[in-house]
Amino acid sequence: MNDAPSGSNSGSNSRQNPSQNLQQKQVTFSCQPGGSLTGSARVPGDKSISHRSIMLGALAEGTTHIRGFLQGDDAIATLNAFRVMGVKIDGPDKGRVTVHGVGMQGLNAPSADLNLGNSGTSMRLLSGLLAGQKFDSTLTGDVSLSKRPMNRVIDPLTKMGADIESALNGTPPLMIKGGKTLSGINYLMPMASAQVKSSLLLAGLFANGSTCVTEPAMTRDHTERMLNGFGYSVERQDMTVILQGGGRLHATDIEVPGDISSAAFFIVGACITKNSDITLQHVGINPTRIGVVNILRLMGADISIFNERDVGGEPVGDIRVRNSPLKGITIPQDQVPLAIDEFPVIFVAAACAEGETVLKGAEELRVKESDRIQVMADALSNVGVQARPTDDGMVICASDIKGGEVRSCGDHRIAMAMSIAALRAQGSITIQDCANVNTSFPGFAEMANRLGHDIRVY
Ligand code: S3P
Repeated sequence: MNDAPSGSNSGSNSRQNPSQNLQQKQVTFSCQPGGSLTGSARVPGDKSISHRSIMLGALAEGTTHIRGFLQGDDAIATLNAFRVMGVKIDGPDKGRVTVHGVGMQGLNAPSADLNLGNSGTSMRLLSGLLAGQKFDSTLTGDVSLSKRPMNRVIDPLTKMGADIESALNGTPPLMIKGGKTLSGINYLMPMASAQVKSSLLLAGLFANGSTCVTEPAMTRDHTERMLNGFGYSVERQDMTVILQGGGRLHATDIEVPGDISSAAFFIVGACITKNSDITLQHVGINPTRIGVVNILRLMGADISIFNERDVGGEPVGDIRVRNSPLKGITIPQDQVPLAIDEFPVIFVAAACAEGETVLKGAEELRVKESDRIQVMADALSNVGVQARPTDDGMVICASDIKGGEVRSCGDHRIAMAMSIAALRAQGSITIQDCANVNTSFPGFAEMANRLGHDIRVY
């Protein structure tokens, strides 16, 4: 299996698309040093659940009403893709979306390429969903997505009978041939990836027989929970998830909880700054997502979760965080997939923790929206933090954070993590290339400022 990221996108298809234009819009954050975070806030809806609510709502019979939908560029890319395939979708309007489901066989051939912008989740999940359709489709993305590895889904989907062509080294665009008969497989995933698992489960809906996906470590289980919520039976036996093809989905109402990956920025911000005390309301606390809380608690963070409740099959709670001294740790391996999107900001916490923090076994960070090991090591070093990148992680020592200028390399989570670093810096931190914050957290700077940060957006 060749799943290495490629620096080149010399495939035959290199069309311009609107998200490339969006990325070219320059946005700079000038983050003033110091401050503390106080008060309460509700972060935008969970990105993973927002994507899936559109996909499953579209395939369902009946009308799905969604509340709390993330109106960020990534989830909207998924929404637009289904519109292009003929699904009537009302909204989004203040987080409300209505999806008029077309049933398992009701999607139309898209009249144009499906442009998924920056969103790896859209591309990998849609690859599975589209592999079993009657029609051909082509999936494209922005500059970052066009470098990301897709063989991790192409290879197992091909084993199921799919026909998918890519550009060089398994990078987008993906050309998916329709009219193929898919058969279920037993697949042992070589990496812990919820995107791969979900892609195969979505293909499995259209396959003959049973699709069994075994994960090497537990990853987020929203697809399984949500399929069950849409009345489709998915079973788990230890590390294996199993479903039978050929069933039907029934529309349901969905309330999307706040995204713990977005909450993580303020959780760390409150941990590392004197006199901070914040409460983040209605945050998803699915056990497959709360690695960031587990890791910070091991470092000595003062985090309490209360008002725990179940919202449509997903655990939700309010999270209170107060400042407390942190100490460096070796991050437990089993927490790595459960905190995979939060490492940029966990690195910032590590810089503020006494002693040394060691992360290993996180090579997946190298193939996210940017190479998050290298880009964070560079950004932290630029502001005076001792951060040593390794092949599969990072070693970070307690450091004084100085001011400076850093590049986010167009990666939303790098931009937000480095703006949180400014809360403990001696001078301001200027971050270039922040337009992409809108992919997952529209309104981030405004919310940060309301809680006590001072981020100026240019
Ligand atoms: C996601 C899974 C994770 C995560 C991504 C969203 C999902 O990716 O990094 O932001 O919604 O399934 P991997 O499964 O590739 O680790």
